[in-house]
Amino acid sequence: MKHFLTLKDYSKKEILEIVQLAFKIKKKMKKGKRKPYLKNQTLAMIFEKSSTRTRVSFEIGMYQLGGHAIFLSSNDSQLGRGEPMKDTARVIGRMADMVMIRTFSQESLREFADYSPVPVINGLTDLCHPVQLIADYMTMIEHGKKKNQIVAYVGDGNNMTHSWMWLAAKLGFELRVASPKGYEADGLVMHESLSEAKKSGAVITFFHDPKEAVKNADVVTTDTWISMGQEDEKAKRIKDFKGFIVDNAMMKLAKKDAIFLHCLPAYRGYEVDQEVLEGKQSVVFDEAENRLHAQKGIMVWLDRHR
Ligand code: CP
Ligand code: NVA
Repeated sequence: MKHFLTLKDYSKKEILEIVQLAFKIKKKMKKGKRKPYLKNQTLAMIFEKSSTRTRVSFEIGMYQLGGHAIFLSSNDSQLGRGEPMKDTARVIGRMADMVMIRTFSQESLREFADYSPVPVINGLTDLCHPVQLIADYMTMIEHGKKKNQIVAYVGDGNNMTHSWMWLAAKLGFELRVASPKGYEADGLVMHESLSEAKKSGAVITFFHDPKEAVKNADVVTTDTWISMGQEDEKAKRIKDFKGFIVDNAMMKLAKKDAIFLHCLPAYRGYEVDQEVLEGKQSVVFDEAENRLHAQKGIMVWLDRHR
């Protein structure tokens, strides 16, 4: 049985299998066909942080696959009153067919998975957001960014950055990450993804100047400067990220046909300018839609690998 906790645990072949499966299900759905791949199955979704896309895409995705999803938040489940992850995992795992969790630490997600008799999916942790990257990669492919693409990530060295690093390292493309001093990606993820990159031929480089990173890029992407749980640092972060907004001037440095991606929610005027987010190069709503298809690909793939 496989869990989906980080792209680090997945091979290039497995990632591409999931992407292909997601495309296949998407294509069928666009033709009005909904094959009940997960008929009568139940997905338990545990949210310890807020969500719009992740909740809706998993819940609707499971329904469209012929199954059912239930929503639990830490506020109204016993998790919020201190019931340990390992107990919750063993209880839910006796009832649900699959579990998706959005939580803070990767360690508690890992602990849940260690005790779970059914597949567990990471719906975002402080460390990474792997389900988002399946949708992002699908969006790149759909917009012709398939081969030798250069992706530039501008902003906080956070869960999205780490997942981009793992995706590049596994698939073998060029990724440039630009973050302000003090907001670089996690050292261990850097070390591990760089050693994986040596095997796949990926080129992952780090910058403090975003303009250097976006030069000639095929894909420009960013994420909020203030992730969930960092609200107290807001004022300091806004000051420290000065110069990191993706605006038209920044986009002009990338290739003419470059696309702009953002996992959303976006904060206009901070990490991205209104004109870029709403502009011609922005494909953020294709990307958001692909969350639905990506989620289905992941769930069906996991079901086949029990
Ligand atoms: N991109 C993303 O995961 O969005 P939500 O926080 O709305 O789920
Ligand atoms: N880095 C952001 C992503 C939100 C989808 C956060 O963790 O809040």
